[in-house]
Amino acid sequence: MKLLRLVLLLFCSLAVAQEACIPNPAGGVILSADRWLHWDPSENCPNTVYRVQVFFTMDKPTYSTVTAQLSWSMDFLLYCRVYNFTVTSLANNILGTENFVWETLHIPEGTDVVINGLTGALIDDSVLVEWRIGWKYPYCVEHFHFFIYDDEVETPQYLQVIQPGYLLEHVARCTNYRFEVASSYGMMNGTTSTINYTVPALSNRPTLVEVRQNAVSINTTWSLEKYNVNRCRVTALYVTGTRFNATYPIEDTPERPNVQVSITGLIPDSMYSFSVSIENSAGLSTPYHMAVQTLPLEATSD
Ligand SMILES: *[C@@H]1O[C@H](CO)[C@@H](O)[C@H](O)[C@H]1NC(C)=O
Ligand SMILES: *[C@@H]1O[C@H](CO)[C@@H](O)[C@H](O)[C@H]1NC(C)=O
Ligand SMILES: *[C@@H]1O[C@H](CO)[C@@H](O)[C@H](O)[C@H]1NC(C)=O
Ligand SMILES: *[C@@H]1O[C@H](CO)[C@@H](O)[C@H](O)[C@H]1NC(C)=O
Ligand SMILES: *[C@@H]1O[C@H](CO)[C@@H](O)[C@H](O)[C@H]1NC(C)=O
Repeated sequence: MKLLRLVLLLFCSLAVAQEACIPNPAGGVILSADRWLHWDPSENCPNTVYRVQVFFTMDKPTYSTVTAQLSWSMDFLLYCRVYNFTVTSLANNILGTENFVWETLHIPEGTDVVINGLTGALIDDSVLVEWRIGWKYPYCVEHFHFFIYDDEVETPQYLQVIQPGYLLEHVARCTNYRFEVASSYGMMNGTTSTINYTVPALSNRPTLVEVRQNAVSINTTWSLEKYNVNRCRVTALYVTGTRFNATYPIEDTPERPNVQVSITGLIPDSMYSFSVSIENSAGLSTPYHMAVQTLPLEATSD
């Protein structure tokens, strides 16, 4: 009976002793330059392991693991962000006091934050230029250097852009652009990426400015879409009628003056219907249809 009590007592005190082993905190928590978290061992209890947690916000860990090692690589996290790295010793389900280090996870030395997938797309009369960077770098890039080269302007336009994209508004058709983008981070520039982008061609629709007629002629004046809207080279104006056809070749210039169309040798007091269309590098415009009556003979002044 005495023996049994002794054994029981021994067993209980052993269990208590084991339960009572609270591991000392793992000291010396540091984040080294190669992005490994290191800590010193906690040696007072057997079977000690370490709970490693990473917090970005206070409440919920971004990452959590348990390891028997004395270091853990943090290279899987987004760079250039401040994190709270905590290490808590853990022995037989008993947690010790945590230790933490509040540190920025730096981008590896010499990293080239390259520009990927640089594209241009037309949206109405604007060009949306977009690009991407590697998923680990959004917090590193302070801005992008963005250059817009236009084949007819000498000096490029330079912008510092925060988002990985830019909407270039009110572009002229047929303009040849070159876009250059490089990321800027910690006094460094990544490799520059370049694309050529030509705004798709579009036909040039004429607008009627003036109609003058007498007994034997019909004169019309046409304005074309201006150079700052449509740079596609204009080659001719076509007049197509049931009783006459005419082609007016056009030498295109940036001024793009109005085009005078004179139809002569007509019969007085007659209805003429015809259409006018413009040819440019995109092809023929939709025709402008019109009908004009020549004046009776007595009404003419000349
Ligand atoms: C880091 O996280 C630990 C554990 O949650 C917390 O006790 C500590 O206050 C945090 N430190 C900072 C600077 O937020
Ligand atoms: C980064 O690029 C910008 C724009 O091209 C340039 O002005 C600047 O000098 C460059 N900086 C470095 C450190 O190369
Ligand atoms: C862009 O155009 C320029 C000049 O027209 C040419 O030299 C260059 O090779 C082109 N670049 C690309 C990426 O097509
Ligand atoms: C139309 O132009 C022609 C030639 O330029 C001219 O002879 C004619 O008088 C003009 N007619 C009218 C109605 O202005
Ligand atoms: C003018 O051209 C159109 C189309 O090419 C043709 O159908 C028409 O018969 C021509 N008219 C004259 C008067 O030549």
